[in-house]
Amino acid sequence: MDKILVHGGHPLNGTVRVSGSKNSALPILAAALLTKEPCVIANVPDLSDINYMLQILSHLGAHVERASGVVRIEAGKLKTAAPYDIVRKMRASVCVLGPLLGREKEASVSLPGGCVIGDRPIDLHLKGFEALGAVSRIEHGNVKLFANELRGATVNLRGKQGPTVLGTDNVMMAAALAEGTTVIESAAAEPEVVDLANFLNKMGAKIEGAGTRRIVVHGVAELHGAEHEVIPDRIEAGTYLVAGAIMGGDVLLRRVDPSHLGSLIDALNLSGYEIEAKADTLRIKGHPSPKPLQLTTEPYPGFPTDMQAQMCALLAQTEGISVISETIFPQRFMHVSELKRMGADISLDGHTAIIKGVAKMSGAPVMASDLRASAALVLAGLRAEGVTEVNRVYHIDRGYESIDDKLNQLGARIERMKA
Ligand code: EPZ
Repeated sequence: MDKILVHGGHPLNGTVRVSGSKNSALPILAAALLTKEPCVIANVPDLSDINYMLQILSHLGAHVERASGVVRIEAGKLKTAAPYDIVRKMRASVCVLGPLLGREKEASVSLPGGCVIGDRPIDLHLKGFEALGAVSRIEHGNVKLFANELRGATVNLRGKQGPTVLGTDNVMMAAALAEGTTVIESAAAEPEVVDLANFLNKMGAKIEGAGTRRIVVHGVAELHGAEHEVIPDRIEAGTYLVAGAIMGGDVLLRRVDPSHLGSLIDALNLSGYEIEAKADTLRIKGHPSPKPLQLTTEPYPGFPTDMQAQMCALLAQTEGISVISETIFPQRFMHVSELKRMGADISLDGHTAIIKGVAKMSGAPVMASDLRASAALVLAGLRAEGVTEVNRVYHIDRGYESIDDKLNQLGARIERMKA
């Protein structure tokens, strides 16, 4: 297994190009199953999670071609059972359920296991599918769906932690081909949900209200092929903004949509960082004495859970007491024990981290776990004294395109060691 060595203390300055959004590309690639006509998706990032999704689509019978960031999918005849050995590697595989149900009126996908950030139930997805008239059952570790027909319905997709992103995506995709109108109440409003709705509408769907808590889907008889460019990855962008903050440099991000990062920009401004937003760029300059913060993760447009670990790494080296409460995935603190091995002073109280900023952290061998926790360890290593060895770097490669190359281009000194 590859590992990366992060040599601390190298300032960051320069420009970094943000890749296409992983969390937008995954459901959009799955949505191509809704038509037998070819779809062409551009700005698809080169990530292992994307590769897994393309493997699943191929297994289901779709013809998949990829040329650098452009993917062409033609889903003629479809199988409806996704293979366990690939699905188990990526929880987001569940987003093939909606398209298969919508197109074939049946689906069988192995249940996503839990993962290090916590239990990953799909009860809300099933609630939505059942509202449309599907029958669901769990059999030998698979979730199986079947429907004679799909009829529009009103369904509230709010769970105890709020809306569900992939659940909203899945129900929207199935409802696109249902008879009649579906209203999704308490819908997720993430930019990635809006991007999917825009792609579905290009395919001939009739979806209104994406980006709000109430999405209306007027079912149509069939969908046709379409072309689409995936939005920039706001979490990758946020990760590089935090890298610039940690190293106090002058970092410019290109091909980013600042309107997707409002809550992060607000937090960094509050801490004292100077951020300049233009149409598709963001620039951050360091600050000599940034202030500590109190943050709570919330559904979009609130502070994103996917930026919580990265902010822990920043606040661990920001003088004063900071507090971060994690309301979406309450156990999402795998990074804390590793940051403490680097000298961070963080205590956990339930789903809240109390962070006492230290002047200097020290490099250490650390273990990557979930995607964002791993990125946080790299960020901490940028500034820590000495070398931080991040093991199991495949976690990072799931969601960050060439993170070592991009940071090295900014002046970091990161070596990737092939295992
Ligand atoms: C998406 O996951 C993202 N993944 C996650 O990003 C992100 O953290 C998450 O949304 C929240 O923003 C992709 O888009 C591929 P949820 P998703 O359903 O859709 C509970 C990353 O790092 N819930 O919005 O799976 C759930 O347990 C990844 O890129 C139910 O209770 O998350 C959680 O507490 C990590 N029942 C909350 O809702 C359900 O049926 C939000 O989950 C579904 C979810």
